[in-house]
Amino acid sequence: MNGINIDMFRNKYTERLFFVIAAAVTAALVLFISLVLTSNIGYAEPAGEMLFEQECLDCHYSDDFSDYPQSEVAAMLKAIVNGEADHMQELNFTDEEIEYLANYLSSIEVAE
Ligand code: HEC
Repeated sequence: MNGINIDMFRNKYTERLFFVIAAAVTAALVLFISLVLTSNIGYAEPAGEMLFEQECLDCHYSDDFSDYPQSEVAAMLKAIVNGEADHMQELNFTDEEIEYLANYLSSIEVAE
């Protein structure tokens, strides 16, 4: 009799523990996925690469700016977009697109 009661208690307890762990894992997973989807790190590079290939590849190699840190590439792009710096072609980007482009361009390895 005693043995059965203890087993029932254990099963209930284990079930609850399992539920708590499953809920925690699910919450962590949802948090992680939403962070990846909303952060720059998650999709900045594909977006930056796409912008570069569409708008810049005619005149630039992808490693043209790989010597510069991200912040400097972003500053150069902002200056061009604002009209403060001369550039062969007028550029028109949002701050977000500038971030993507700068993330991409500063992440390229220099080709040998
Ligand atoms: C029509 C050709 C052309 C296109 C398209 C073009 N560039 Fe350029 N870009 C140049 C030339 C030529 C220079 C170097 C001389 C100059 O500064 O105008 C240059 C220079 C730059 C510089 C350096 C500016 C500085 O202050 O030294 C940056 C940054 C740059 N381009 C970014 C881009 C990006 C990003 C794109 C795409 C969104 C792009 N360019 C598209 C021709 C182009």
